Amino acid sequence: MSEIKNIGVLTSGGDAPGMNAAIRAVVRAGLYYNLQVTGIMRGFEGMVNGEFVPMNAKSVANIIQRGGTILKTFRSESFRTVEGRTQAHAQLQKNNIDAVVVIGGEGSFTGAQAFIGEYDVPIIGLPGTIDNDLIGTDFTIGYDTAINTVIDAVDKIRDTAESHDRLFIVEVMGRDSGLIALRSGIGAGAEAILIPESKTNTEHLFKRLEEGRKDKASKIIIVAEGDNEGGFEIASLIKEKFPNYDTRLSILGHIQRGGRPSCMDRVLASRVGVAAVEALLAGRKGEMIGIVNSNIHYTPFHKAIKHISEVSPSLLKILDILSL
Ligand code: F6P
Repeated sequence: MSEIKNIGVLTSGGDAPGMNAAIRAVVRAGLYYNLQVTGIMRGFEGMVNGEFVPMNAKSVANIIQRGGTILKTFRSESFRTVEGRTQAHAQLQKNNIDAVVVIGGEGSFTGAQAFIGEYDVPIIGLPGTIDNDLIGTDFTIGYDTAINTVIDAVDKIRDTAESHDRLFIVEVMGRDSGLIALRSGIGAGAEAILIPESKTNTEHLFKRLEEGRKDKASKIIIVAEGDNEGGFEIASLIKEKFPNYDTRLSILGHIQRGGRPSCMDRVLASRVGVAAVEALLAGRKGEMIGIVNSNIHYTPFHKAIKHISEVSPSLLKILDILSL
């Protein structure tokens, strides 16, 4: 018999479309299994400060379609300290919260990992980040929506680039990961992508630009923000090397984090949200729940945050072949 009666749920780190759908799934699954569910505001910061809100079926009504997170989010500095985590534990005890579901990315699971090393509180993680840079899930909650936002923007940029015969550098998010750049690059028919995983080879890019088809009106190069200095640097290098190109830079920024989640993200969030509650009731802890090949998959936090985002060589090749 599980001892768990009250589950806390929080969102942490950068927000991602679909986090609300995940909160809804955790709350409704908790109620389905006759548990209490407590919302923890502002991520780990709210855990430290005891910002708790009792949740019921109505508190998560009408949020599956909304971007952002109703629980707010935070990159908590205090939770990085032993004192902060001690206070957070005391707050959980005081409020009879027996287990926690953390929806976030690499930084959030690093915090969760430190906490479970010190206290015996079951924590389950759900992959909530637009970056898709966690090991143990094919996709993270928010990634599908973000890449659709990117291709929507790049399609528009393509229109104006084509009219003016311009080369556009489009900078997308991904401080440590080029996975947004990779898929959106293929989806938007970009001429090239630059990502932190494969060290920028400007010579290779210059060669492609020199040798590429001369009858192309527009060119789009998608750069992940984590690739060297991001878009600014590569735009100035191209301007210097190819003064004949009419070059422009467009930084998409935080529009990639907002908006209505796609159906893919809503379904992913719903599946892993229910699985999180079931995992806690089954006695699981210290794991992130993802979906691999359509099946629920459990990965210990320390493996999920390995920080080697897997850039598929075959996708890179497809981009190269198709960008002639
Ligand atoms: O981790 C998600 C993410 O959007 C990254 O792609 C980006 O580098 C970072 O967060 C930006 O964070 P902030 O909104 O705190 O500037």
